[in-house]
Amino acid sequence: MKTQFASKIGALAAAAGSAVGLGNIWRFPAEAHSNGGAVFVMMYLICLLLFGIPVMCSEFAMGRGGGGDTATVFTNITPGRKAWRMAGIWPLITAYTILGFYMVVSGWSLEYLVQTLTGDLYAPVAGTDSGSAMFLSKMNKYIATTYRPLVMTLIMIAANAWVLACGVQKGIEKMSKVLMPMLFVILLVFCVVSLMLPGAADGISFFLKPDFSKFTPECLVNALGQCFFSMSLGMGTLITYGSYFPSDTRLARTAGDVAGLDLLVAMLMGVIIFPAVSTFHLTGESLEGQGLVFVTMPEIFSFMPGTMIWSALFFLLLCVAAFTSTISVCEVIVAYFHDHKGMSRIKACIVGLLPLIPICGLCSLSMGLLGHIHIFGYNIFGFLDNLTSNVLLPVGSLMLCIYIGWIAPKKFFSNELTNGGKLRSFLFPCIEFIVKWIAPELILLILLWQFF
Ligand code: TRP
Repeated sequence: MKTQFASKIGALAAAAGSAVGLGNIWRFPAEAHSNGGAVFVMMYLICLLLFGIPVMCSEFAMGRGGGGDTATVFTNITPGRKAWRMAGIWPLITAYTILGFYMVVSGWSLEYLVQTLTGDLYAPVAGTDSGSAMFLSKMNKYIATTYRPLVMTLIMIAANAWVLACGVQKGIEKMSKVLMPMLFVILLVFCVVSLMLPGAADGISFFLKPDFSKFTPECLVNALGQCFFSMSLGMGTLITYGSYFPSDTRLARTAGDVAGLDLLVAMLMGVIIFPAVSTFHLTGESLEGQGLVFVTMPEIFSFMPGTMIWSALFFLLLCVAAFTSTISVCEVIVAYFHDHKGMSRIKACIVGLLPLIPICGLCSLSMGLLGHIHIFGYNIFGFLDNLTSNVLLPVGSLMLCIYIGWIAPKKFFSNELTNGGKLRSFLFPCIEFIVKWIAPELILLILLWQFF
């Protein structure tokens, strides 16, 4: 019997769990902040509707129609095309590079949750006067430490391995059905609190009222990159999950729902962060990258009554969001060893996830002990981060669009979209047209943009 999710809602929760992650909580507000606020949000919305959803549909279609992990689907759909089998290995490489840095950040989130509970995060440090200087120095000191971040990362890897070893229905699906609703409840609580702050109106207007003079071509390129990352596109996560979809799942509908939930979380994060930023007049480098969640957020909580409660809830949210995403990336690896190489699930978890220990270890140490190692001017962490978002993911999506649009049998995509002719919509031909004619050029544009 082929492995499947037990229910459509479980399938949706798992796919949404993959999409909603650090990309929404930290990357989206930071990108919006440095790309002109509302203009970026608008560009993002356009990218999501025009490209995100069609490309997501093609990943789902490949998974369900090809019935297997990322390497198997190519063999199943076009048995004669041996060269394309290599394309199935690309997602595995990407999975290890993404997990290299993503898992380390999920370890930091766990550490901050623990430090909130023990009270260490808010204990004053001699020699730092302002809140942001204190949190910045705490973060810089912590991420450069040798052992503790390694231990936290290892705990996260072990937790991933454990859920994955429990299987698709009893592990991934069950976990997503519990954690995703919890994530939304926590987010809504934060939204209400943030909207009650005195600077809420200013913050919201920066985030939602577009000022078109701030539009730049980079804004569009960044929005497209953010869209692919946030929707988990380009590395077969959704191919793998698509292969577990029941045969009556409506692919386009599910893609729309996942995109909607993903957008909702990103928007809620904006609604949470920007009012606080304008209320407490926060500016500067702590608003970029990891500073946003590990410096700005603790600073905001320190101004609020009930600091510990808010802080614990927030870092719990971050851990949950990161966890459901790492699970989906790890599953690409586990499915490969399980389906393609015929190992038992438990063995596949061990063999597949073991290499993460040295990869994540190097990444974590590159913030301190190994900080002197530079690749193309980045430390190991920065190198893997940039390599994935700027090269591996766009190339992955490009191959996928070319494959679905041009290589796979003519009726393959439409057959999957219509569930074998049962469904009908004027949108289906539009989706096929975009994947075949427009998405590849646009992806090529982002790829080339960075090099010139
Ligand atoms: N989408 C997740 C986030 O927003 C990260 C993620 C999970 C991802 N799977 C992926 C990104 C596959 C790119 C490709 O944090």
